Order: sequence, then structure tokens, then C-alpha cells
Amino acid sequence: MADGEEVTVNYKLWKGIVYVANPVDAEYQSMNIKQPTSVNGKEVDASGAPIVFAMNIGGYTSSAVNAEQPGGMPGGGMPPGGGAPPAGAGGVESGSGAQMSAGKRIDLGDYALASGLVVVNPGARGRDNVSADGVYFGKAPAAIVDLKAAVRYLKANTGVVPGNTDRIVSSGSSAGGALSVLLGASGGSDLYQKDLVELGAADASDTIYAVAGYCPITDLENADAAYEWCFGDATNETVSVNATVSEELRARFPQYMERLGLKDDQGRKLTADNLAEHILSVHLRPSAKRYLDGLSDEDRAAYVAQNPWVEGDFTWEQFIDHTGRGKGAPAFDALDLSSGENSLFGNENTNARHFTTYAQGGDLEEGVEDAVTRMNPMGFILDRNPQRAQHWFLRVGAKDTDTSFSIVSNLASALSNAGDAVDTSYYWDAGHGANEDPDAFIAWVKSL
Ligand code: DHB
Repeated sequence: MADGEEVTVNYKLWKGIVYVANPVDAEYQSMNIKQPTSVNGKEVDASGAPIVFAMNIGGYTSSAVNAEQPGGMPGGGMPPGGGAPPAGAGGVESGSGAQMSAGKRIDLGDYALASGLVVVNPGARGRDNVSADGVYFGKAPAAIVDLKAAVRYLKANTGVVPGNTDRIVSSGSSAGGALSVLLGASGGSDLYQKDLVELGAADASDTIYAVAGYCPITDLENADAAYEWCFGDATNETVSVNATVSEELRARFPQYMERLGLKDDQGRKLTADNLAEHILSVHLRPSAKRYLDGLSDEDRAAYVAQNPWVEGDFTWEQFIDHTGRGKGAPAFDALDLSSGENSLFGNENTNARHFTTYAQGGDLEEGVEDAVTRMNPMGFILDRNPQRAQHWFLRVGAKDTDTSFSIVSNLASALSNAGDAVDTSYYWDAGHGANEDPDAFIAWVKSL
């Protein structure tokens, strides 16, 4: 599909399938399944196609697929019913008219559908969920438990749901990127089993085949130290930063790199001292070069005139001077409990809690450490979880200041150290949430 091209897709839609037998709230614990039947009037057979598990989750908040209005589609669909396989009740042949155009910020699910792939949009609980009587029911790790339950539902209904359940490819951006990465890294782990049994999840595997993670906001308990290592010297601050907090957090970064024990492709150990040069040479300078090469002579000359440092081997200081920082310190575990992540690590009765000993100033509250472990993909990768996804597509903007540039780089290093296939790219000058090469994503899915 060419950039900006409009495509007409006919597809079957199974709407609002509740994927657990004992939902806490079926509005969130349900999913839509879409099977394309024709694209621009040409029949497609997607019955054995890969399944793009496209989560639309932002800010670690809840996501409900029933709220989704599929573009001009007649209604209908499956009545929600825990455990009922969709095809048994018959799919709903949609009318035509789902038009979508490819562009820089596109819905990857729509794009996948237009490319002849089966698409599953899972809903999931999130940190904002609160019941009428004031009980929070979507705090960590609720979202990942739900997403695993959705995968189990698909696998339990292999041959009934459209698509190849051995080729489930999760995709998401930001919190959704992080949850996609976590879903792939933690596949088959028994750390979630008790919660899944309580929900009445299908007795099937929750492993997936591949992961596309865009700007994943992940490795949360280490993200504050990583942020100060990355942006601590930013001079064009638009946010006020306590210099002592910044320095104390940055001082924790070397031990963190030691704990990760990562190596580059030449087998050299990655440390706090050489990581900047690694990210520059492996990710950022090639990103800048691709960007400049893609410009017209005139635009390139203008860009270089504005940013004379960008040609050649620019330094970390030059680069960070260009990006600036976007968050205060600590960037994630806010001292006043005001961040989204504080709210993610709340519990049934408490909206927001600390999840690092630094911000807590002592021992964490009961249950936090367990939630932190189940929200962080890095542990599963470093432990070489044998059931993890082993094909990865990682993307992030090189001007995305929502988290440290080390996060995706370290994730990519951990995966490739584990022997996985990793396709990583930083989009030059792109901010948070960028998605600039959907065709590469589709080609990658089709190559799996
Ligand atoms: C998202 C952005 C953030 O800066 C963050 O800390 C968590 C989530 C998001 O866009 O999903």
C-alpha cells in the first residue's frame, strides 16, 4: 500500500467477545476480531494469515473495544459470552466502506487489515478503572493478565477463530508498546497463572510469536536513573529539575548497567561509560544519515544549516542539546505521587504508590515489588525465558523524550544477546508515538 493511498476493505467482524469466563468488567475484558474478505474488490483468504494483536492502550489506562466505532460499519456482531467461540455463532459480514489511508500516524490494525492480515483488538483493564464503590480494579499487573487471557482465548479457539494462532504478532505504541514487549517476553510464565485462573482464562498457552513495540515506556523501576543518565545534562530544559535528585538518580545508572550485563554485537560489555557512544553509533548516527539521505538537496542544505553538528560523528552532548528533556526528576516515580506510573502501581484501595526505593525513601509497600516484576519484560529476557517471542520489531523516535534513549537500546541488546531476531530503528527527529514505516512492519510480519 502506497503512502496516502485509500483502500476499501470488506471484513468480517466479531465484536465484543468476552475472553474470560469470570470477567471483573466485561467492557474491558473483551476483544474484536477482524478478518478481511476483500481488499479493493479483490478477494483475500485470510483464514491462515498471521494475527496482528493490535492493542490500543495509552498511558497504561483502560481500553474498551466496544467503545470503538468501526468506520461506518453496520452494527451487529457476536453477543458477548465468555468462552463461546466466535465462528460457532457466525461472523458478521460487514458492509464495505472501511476506508483507510496510509500515512505517518496510522492505525496499525487498520493497516494490517488492508494488507490481508487478521486483526485482533484486545481491550484490557487499566490504572484508571474504579468501581462504583471506589475499588480500583485495573492496577498493575491487570492489563498484562488480561492481554494474556485474550491470547489464551485465541489459542484455545485455534481453527475456529480466523488466522494462524501460531503466528500471533503483538503491536502497540508507548504503554501499548511496553505491554506488547512484556506479552512477548513473559510468554508462558507461571507468574501470572493464579490471576489467569481466577479470571477463568482459557486453559491454553499465552505465548506469542513476535512483537512490534513502538516507543515502549518500559523497564519502569529503572527508568528514572536511565532518564537522568540520558537527559541529566540537557541545557534547554522546559521543566524544572532538582539537580540533587537528578544527580542521585544518575549515580544509580552504572550499577543498573552492571546488573543487565549486556554486550554489543562485537561482544564488548556495555557500561554506563560506553553506552552513549554505542547508542550513537548503532542507532542515532545511522538514523540521522537515513533522514538526511531522504531529503532533497535543498531541504538537506537547510537542515544542515540549522543543525551543523548533525553531519559526521556528532556527540551525545550535541544530540541531547538538540532533544532537550521532556520530564522532571524523577521522571516516573514522582516524589508527590503525581505520575501515571505512580497510579499504575496503586492497589485496590490506593490510587497511587511509589515503586522505587529512591522515591519511597525506604522499603516499598506490600505487593509493589511483585507488580513491578510482572510489569518488566527485561527480567524475562535476561533469564532467557524459553517460551518468549523471538522475533522483534522495535521503533522509537529520536526526539522522543518520554523515556531515556537507553531503554529501547538496552531492550534491543538484551534480545539480541538472548539470540533473538531484532529489527530496531530510531526515527530521526520524531517525537513520542511516531510510526513512520508501516510498510516495513507489514513486510516484516509477512516474512515471519
Ligand atoms: C505513555 C507516555 C508516557 O510518558 C508514560 O510515562 C507512560 C505512557 C503513553 O503515551 O502511553
